[in-house]
Amino acid sequence: MTGPMTVADYMKEVLVHPHTGYYINKDVFGQKGDFITSPEISQLFGELLGVWSVYEWQKIGAPKPLQIIELGPGRGSMMQDILKVYSRLKLNDSIKVHLVEISPKLSQIQSNRLCESLNEGSMDDLSYRKGITKFGVPISWHKMIEDVPRGFSCIFAHEFFDALPIHKFQKTENGWREVLIDIDPKHDKLLRYVLSPGPTPATKVFASNDDTANHREVCPQAGVIMEHLAIRLEEHGGFALIADYGHLGDKYDTFRAFKEHKLHDPLIEPGSADLTADVDFTFLKKSVADKLVTLGPVPQRQFLNSMHIDARLKILLENCKTEVECKNLSSGYKMLMDPDKMGERFKFMALFPAVLEPYLNQMRVAGFQD
Ligand SMILES: C[S@@+](CC[C@H](N)C(=O)[O-])C[C@H]1O[C@@H](n2cnc3c(N)ncnc32)[C@H](O)[C@@H]1O
Repeated sequence: MTGPMTVADYMKEVLVHPHTGYYINKDVFGQKGDFITSPEISQLFGELLGVWSVYEWQKIGAPKPLQIIELGPGRGSMMQDILKVYSRLKLNDSIKVHLVEISPKLSQIQSNRLCESLNEGSMDDLSYRKGITKFGVPISWHKMIEDVPRGFSCIFAHEFFDALPIHKFQKTENGWREVLIDIDPKHDKLLRYVLSPGPTPATKVFASNDDTANHREVCPQAGVIMEHLAIRLEEHGGFALIADYGHLGDKYDTFRAFKEHKLHDPLIEPGSADLTADVDFTFLKKSVADKLVTLGPVPQRQFLNSMHIDARLKILLENCKTEVECKNLSSGYKMLMDPDKMGERFKFMALFPAVLEPYLNQMRVAGFQD
C-alpha cells in the first residue's frame, strides 16, 4: 500500500485479487466458512426460484433457447435446485446455463457439483470452461456478464451485489469527503480510516449537495452491471431476479466484515473475512429506470410465501426418510422465513423490459403480489 486507498479499492483488493483474494482460493461458505446463504440452507429456496422462472418464461411465450444466467453462483447449489425443476418439467432441451464467476476455486466447486463432463482451456468464445450438467444441459463459465452470449435470458443474482466494492462518503463542514483506508502511523501493521483532504473523483460524481444524509455508500460497479442488464434485456428479451440484503437508500453506514459467522472489523487481517455492504435497491432501480420495469423490492418471506413455500415444505416433509431430514427442513424453512432471521432483511426485486409493462399489469408477476 503506497498511500490511502478508497474503500472500493480496498474491497476489490481484499475480495477478488487474482492471487490472494478472499473469494479466489477457498470455499468460504457453510459451517466451516464465514457465512451461510439461503440456497445453502434449504433446497426450498432454489426450487422456488426455479418454479418462478419457468412460470414467468412460459407467460411470455417460452422463447427458446432460454439462457439461464447466474451472477456469483457460490457453490452452485441454487443452480442445481433450479435445474432440478427444469428437469422434472422436461424442459432441459430448451435451456442453456451461463455462470458468471470470478473465483477459480468456486467455479471448480460449481463444476464438480453440477457437471457430468467438462472441457477447459482456450474456448472459441468468451467462456473459460464449458460442460454438460448432470441434467444434460450445456453450461459455460464467464468472468464477466459482458462475456455471456446475447439472447433471451432469465438472470439470477443472489448475494452478488453485496460483494461488489463500495465508496464511502462523509459530509463535513467543507462539503463531502471520501472515507479512505490508510496505514496507522502508530502501528504500521494496522489500518485506519481517514478522510480525503478534499473532494475525490468519486465524491464529485456520486455525492450530492442536496443529500440530507451525513454519510453515504455508493457502488458504481453495481450501477454499471445494472445498465448492462438493462441493455441486454431490452435488446434481446428476458427478465431478472435480484435477491440480497438491502435498503431503499435509507441506510448509510453498512460496510462490515464476517468471519466465522460473527461480525468482524473490516480493517483487521484483510483477506481473512468476507467484506460486504447492504445493497441500495433505490440506486439499482434508478440505474435502469429508462429501460426496465422494476418490481419490489419485497421482503424474502413475502416472495417465498406467495410462491407457496408452505405447500412445498409440506410435500417435502411428507416424503422425509429420517427425523433428522425433517428437522433440517423445518429449521431451514424457519431461517429463510423468520422476520428476525432472513425473512425481512433479504429482499427480492424483479426486472422486465419496459415494453412488457402493459402486459405485466394484466398478468401480475409471481412473488410480487400480497
Ligand atoms: C456472497 S457470495 C454468494 C454466492 C451464492 N450466490 C449464494 O447465495 O450462495 C458471492 C459470489 O459472487 C462471486 N463474485 C464476487 N465478486 C464477483 C465479481 N466481481 N464477478 C463475478 N463474481 C463475483 C463470488 O466468488 C461468489 O461466488
